[in-house]
Amino acid sequence: MSEYILVSVAWPYANSQIHVGNLTGSYLPADIFARYHRLAGDQVAMVSGSDGHGTPVTVRADAESTTPLKVYQHYHTTFIELYQKLGLTYDLFTSTHTENHFEVSQNIFLALQANNFLYTERQKQWYAPTQGRFLPDRYVEGTCYICGYPNARGDQCDGCGSLLDATQLIDPRSKIDGSTPELRETEHFYLDLGALEPAIIEFLRQREGYFRPNVLRQSLGQIQSDGLRGRPITRDLDWGIPVPVEGWGGKCLYVWFEAVIGYLSASIELARLRGKPDDWHYWWYNPAARGYYFIGKDNIPFHAVNWPGQLIGAGEAFGRLLEGSEGKRLTLPYDIPANEFMNLEGKKISGSRNWAVWGLDFLERYDPDSLRYYLTANMPEAKDTDWDWDDFVRRNNDELVATWGNLANRVLSFAYKHWDGRVPEPGELRPEDQEIIATVEAGFQSVGQHLEAVRLRAALGEALRLAAEVNKYLDKAAPWFEIKSDKAAAAKSIYAALRAIDSLKVLLAPFIPFSSERLHGYLGYSEPLFGSQYTETVQDGLGEHTVLRYRPGPAGVHWQPSQLATGKALHQPGPLFRKLEPSVAAEERARLG
Ligand code: MF3
Ligand code: ZN
Repeated sequence: MSEYILVSVAWPYANSQIHVGNLTGSYLPADIFARYHRLAGDQVAMVSGSDGHGTPVTVRADAESTTPLKVYQHYHTTFIELYQKLGLTYDLFTSTHTENHFEVSQNIFLALQANNFLYTERQKQWYAPTQGRFLPDRYVEGTCYICGYPNARGDQCDGCGSLLDATQLIDPRSKIDGSTPELRETEHFYLDLGALEPAIIEFLRQREGYFRPNVLRQSLGQIQSDGLRGRPITRDLDWGIPVPVEGWGGKCLYVWFEAVIGYLSASIELARLRGKPDDWHYWWYNPAARGYYFIGKDNIPFHAVNWPGQLIGAGEAFGRLLEGSEGKRLTLPYDIPANEFMNLEGKKISGSRNWAVWGLDFLERYDPDSLRYYLTANMPEAKDTDWDWDDFVRRNNDELVATWGNLANRVLSFAYKHWDGRVPEPGELRPEDQEIIATVEAGFQSVGQHLEAVRLRAALGEALRLAAEVNKYLDKAAPWFEIKSDKAAAAKSIYAALRAIDSLKVLLAPFIPFSSERLHGYLGYSEPLFGSQYTETVQDGLGEHTVLRYRPGPAGVHWQPSQLATGKALHQPGPLFRKLEPSVAAEERARLG
């Protein structure tokens, strides 16, 4: 039965390039998961966009003496380019700077207000006398009042992961000019998380059995020890979404309040773009739909606590306000498989110090599947991992090329050459032939189960283990020698091996789709495994914005064992991957820092 799967992917701040840590943290795992579910015949909506507002973007604009709009547009364009080159198949990659997102965010705000989950409070905020303006939390740094970490940001501490109350920072200083700010009074709307706490706890308890430990620790664990208090959701800032209340000019919705609403607004935009404006209901008004949120560990509290709180608090009132319907409860996240971080050559990735492997730069020199393979094999699912250039070259050559690429290539070339470019007719299979076919076909269960549970590293490892089994089988059967004395026996071996690689191609397709698609073609299939990506420019009241979209491939379930027919015409095969020189590691290391 086909299921509704929402693949919600973290929205990158439109203020810097994307590096391998970002990719393996959330964008790549989301794509693997989405591709798997599409192959399995499910209804997938993979959505995200550029996080275009807030201080991360204004800080960059100030630093470059340009406008936040220009900064956002520039990075948005580079994200789309990277996602196309790397094959990240968003059904919709949009941005927070759209009329639709403004409207949806303001309606969530108003729904929360209608349900009495908002209140206003005059609060103290850091004000910079040197600049004559209030400083957003991110513009203030100081010592964390929880753990003592000296470089905590006003909004969040990277030392202990806690969300902070900026006014309590010890020894505050302005990030702009290092001056000491002073506390002044201003008024803001607060989200009453205290009132929502019981519902949020219930939401988390229901997911205790399968949420990753780091996610539970930073949500349920944190609430149980500290409790929840109201948090301000507006800011003294003019770049962003206006607070939809009379008399609140000059203030905007807090970027973290509105960015998470993007999952919902992008689903609505997607439905409209598809010409079926109500289709988002299948993912958002449907308790059986499952929403997976692919994020990095620094985003956990906003997704596992605040976002469920926003959805619960808005409730049916959202639909009433947005479309005048009776409204329904909004579907809460099913899973939030947050990843840890990837370091680089033993050190924390840092864009400003150029200690990073940048996605677009990498793809100037290497193939997308090499990157996807290494990032999955090394994905920080349970603990931080390290990008190591020697390890990258080794895994590319020993695993991707030797175990899988050469296997597929030599079997296909051999079949193509000796059986007239066709799948040989094997006659009756021997027990060992049947066994290798069955071993690989069991992968649709074992690899599938890992994928369902978002254990992507394990899933890839299992698929590669099966490829290694086929190599062992072939070493024993040795059709390259068999053919000299007994062509009929060789036909059995090659037929079994072709069936195996035809299945392996599908098992590996979510991870390394470019090579699987090519192999699919060599095996003589005319319809592709996947659909295609394209961009589109949309006009709205805020101007135009370009979106990245995905056109689904031919319908049909591919997540099933090979049905390769004997006699089927093959295509002339070519190599699937490139072997890398060991010197690559030193060359690449020289680019760092
Ligand atoms: N822009 C944030 C980051 O890069 C992630 C936001 S996820 C969102 O860390 F859903 F809230 F947008
Ligand atoms: Zn801290």
